[in-house]
Amino acid sequence: MKSISQTKKHARQRWPEGAIVYQIYPRSFYDSNADGIGDIPGIIQKLDYLKNLEVNVIWLSPFYPSPMADFGYDVADYRDVDPIFGTLDDMDRLIEAAHRRNIKLFADLVPNHTSDQHEWFKESKKSREGKFADWYIWRDPLGWNKKDQPIVPNNWIDLFSGETVWEWEPARQQFYMHTFDVHQPDLDWTNPEVREAFKDIMRFWLDRGIDGFRVDAISFMSKDPELRDEPKNPHYSDEVGWKYLALEHIYSMNGPKLFDYLSEMAAVLDEEKYQKSLRFMVTEAYPQTHEHVKEYLGFYKGMNPKVAAPFNFESFSLPWEAEPWRKFLHEFHQALDIFSPLAISSYAFGNHDQTRLATRMGDTAARGVAVFLLTLPGMVFIYNGDEIGMRNGKIPPEMVQDPSAAGDEGRDPERTPLQWSAAKNAGFTTADTPWLPVSEDYQTNNIASQTRDPSSCLTLYKQLTRLRNSSDVLRHGSFAVVQTGNESILGFVRLKDGKGYLTLLSFSPQIEEVKIPADTKITRFKLSSDAETKHKKSSNNIVHLLPNEAAIFVVKIV
Ligand code: GLC
Repeated sequence: MKSISQTKKHARQRWPEGAIVYQIYPRSFYDSNADGIGDIPGIIQKLDYLKNLEVNVIWLSPFYPSPMADFGYDVADYRDVDPIFGTLDDMDRLIEAAHRRNIKLFADLVPNHTSDQHEWFKESKKSREGKFADWYIWRDPLGWNKKDQPIVPNNWIDLFSGETVWEWEPARQQFYMHTFDVHQPDLDWTNPEVREAFKDIMRFWLDRGIDGFRVDAISFMSKDPELRDEPKNPHYSDEVGWKYLALEHIYSMNGPKLFDYLSEMAAVLDEEKYQKSLRFMVTEAYPQTHEHVKEYLGFYKGMNPKVAAPFNFESFSLPWEAEPWRKFLHEFHQALDIFSPLAISSYAFGNHDQTRLATRMGDTAARGVAVFLLTLPGMVFIYNGDEIGMRNGKIPPEMVQDPSAAGDEGRDPERTPLQWSAAKNAGFTTADTPWLPVSEDYQTNNIASQTRDPSSCLTLYKQLTRLRNSSDVLRHGSFAVVQTGNESILGFVRLKDGKGYLTLLSFSPQIEEVKIPADTKITRFKLSSDAETKHKKSSNNIVHLLPNEAAIFVVKIV
């Protein structure tokens, strides 16, 4: 049996630990063929930008053939590439070109549902007989109403429209279920053939050289076997806006078999063939209760922490205040450490479903977040564009594309084209019209101008990624929250052999004084989120922080 220190040593050699992951939303990254939509050859052309930004892993949102009802999250074939994005050969070239630059690739895997144009569904909907008959969630009507219409099996509602999840299929005289758009039928994961099919899809991509997966919407893969009605949410009112919140989703998600299915998927990554170079998956599940630490830990325990971790989505739910973050970070990392040295945290502060970081926080605080994120342990995720502090775009009503948009802009504002330069369409495309309008501020806020500007957000990100990649402590060191003597300042240390870094993050709109306990001796200032701050004095472990500033110091334990 291995001793704990041996396991730790093994853990330290694993590449996901400390990795910087950059999420590319392919439609909006770079358009190489002037059709107004980003593509894979476009990503290949821009790889040196990512190499220069020192990202370690790229996660590609879906690039599979798709009718684009949900912009690729409705997959019609898991083993190919949509012609809009390129070809399978382009994907092979991308994998090779990224690996040549020492960048790994995660594919987005969508196991909960397919497109209604997937061959499996086209067959399945034809009749109750045949190979694919039981691959989706089909149910008889509860009965027929007075108008002779079939009655839905239960009261569940979908995330996008807030209406019933059930859609009638005349050919089968049955309903199918869809958790998201009506064009995204849910697969039946209780069917072992569905599970085997997905494991084979994983092997297909792993054999092509993919290093792992971001796994989409996993919470919905297992449902209550009896499909019981869900209770009304007593806190819901029409002003909430999102109709999905009208019910408490205690039966339509996080069902009893979820961890069995995820473990089966994780086991593929751990197959002998793939062990030579570690493969990994990160699962998408937003916490549902008030006990976030317990929920996250459930995922670490329910999957295999050697090859899998859940996303940490606290940035989308915790109030942006020092105390809740102090409490969360302390409890979460302590729980992870106790559970297993293999467990890797995985923080995301932005993605294609959430309001842009700089829009949520403001420009100054978003710079502080960069310092915070890139000194946290585990995997850290940067959503394309956040490195230049891109803000939500404005989408005129007639141009709204997102199927989840119910009378508003939906998720389009965080998906506007990446702002490469001050050229037409921000240098994203030479087409007349990009698929979504380029954000208005692109002439002043773009990668080219920020590359030249030593005080830009991009320059800050580059300093931080360089520091993280060159620092054994930031990638693999221990983590502990420290007292700051100030309730609006969060502080934590990353340490190895008693030496390392202290990060201080101010949530305050004023200048604040911080006093770090004497045993964590500040020896040197390293970096600040404030571009003007090139030096920072600390005497007797007392330092001052500007409004919303984050700063890194070199420390040693005495
Ligand atoms: C995930 C994706 C989101 C998509 C949904 C359905 O939440 O991030 O973009 O709409 O799953 O696949």
